[in-house]
Amino acid sequence: MDNKPVVLVTRRLPAAVEQKLGERFTTLLNPDDRLYSTAELLELAAQADAILPCHTEKFPADTIAQLPARVKAIANFSVGVDHVDLDAAKQKGIIVTNTPDVLSDATAEIAILLMLGAARRASEGERLVRNRQWKDWSPDFMVGRQTTGKRLGILGMGRVGQVVAQRARGFDMTIHYHNRKPLDPVQAGDAVYHDSVEALLANIDVLSIHCPAMESTRGLMNRERLALMHADSILVNTSRGGVIDDDALVAALNSGAIGAAGLDVFNGEPDGIHPGYRKLDNVFLLPHIGSATYETRIAMGYRAIANLVAIFDGDEPGDRVA
Ligand code: DGY
Repeated sequence: MDNKPVVLVTRRLPAAVEQKLGERFTTLLNPDDRLYSTAELLELAAQADAILPCHTEKFPADTIAQLPARVKAIANFSVGVDHVDLDAAKQKGIIVTNTPDVLSDATAEIAILLMLGAARRASEGERLVRNRQWKDWSPDFMVGRQTTGKRLGILGMGRVGQVVAQRARGFDMTIHYHNRKPLDPVQAGDAVYHDSVEALLANIDVLSIHCPAMESTRGLMNRERLALMHADSILVNTSRGGVIDDDALVAALNSGAIGAAGLDVFNGEPDGIHPGYRKLDNVFLLPHIGSATYETRIAMGYRAIANLVAIFDGDEPGDRVA
């Protein structure tokens, strides 16, 4: 056994990433890509100096408390860190990192895909063709909503939100946003700042959600806030399911209070998503693939490795979140 630090990799990563990781660390890999139970995770962690997990592995406070003392770091293969109790990690002296920036383009592409898919009834249309139910063309067949020139509201104008805004400008959309603080004028460009979620919702045609999942954003899009959107509006979510009150959104889509939604992330994903979504024609659904491009998944892996290298070299990792 060499004396390289040992990294437990909880899911199968791109081959190039596993190879690069292996050059610097001893790796405990998961070639079958099996989802580990918490008990298995803890057992494997007993041999590890660091863990490189995805958002599919959960680290609530009680799991963190049971991690062996030798685990120094949780270097996530994700930008979202809602699967890790950051306070508990901090208390135990475990460094936590994420992989920002490298997935902004890929996630923005999916947000635009969801916007267009929801607006132009892509799920319905695709099903008709696949199921041989497409019988005719007529002036009122599959008519949807146009997004060109409409008002796009961005909730959480961070890295991904700013790329979405840039792409949407290509559709001549006007950009509105809400953040805790306005961006500096160079970053904001022509985007209009609203100082509350409510003010944003009252002034847009499409909402794209990019705020992180945390206690303060849980169920943010609830019945009252959805009621501020108009009947032709479209809601897009590529952040985390937790920011949506599913009962409220399903009811709004069912009643026509809002026009359509495009969703890539869900409460209870994958099996436990709200059953109402599966029944609605006016939702365009994707299986949490915001960052799922070859380029991005490799870049996420390299970013996680860079964080681990910094930690074990005794340097401050670039993407420390706890
Ligand atoms: C992220 O990076 O947060 C993606 O949602 C995948 O976990």
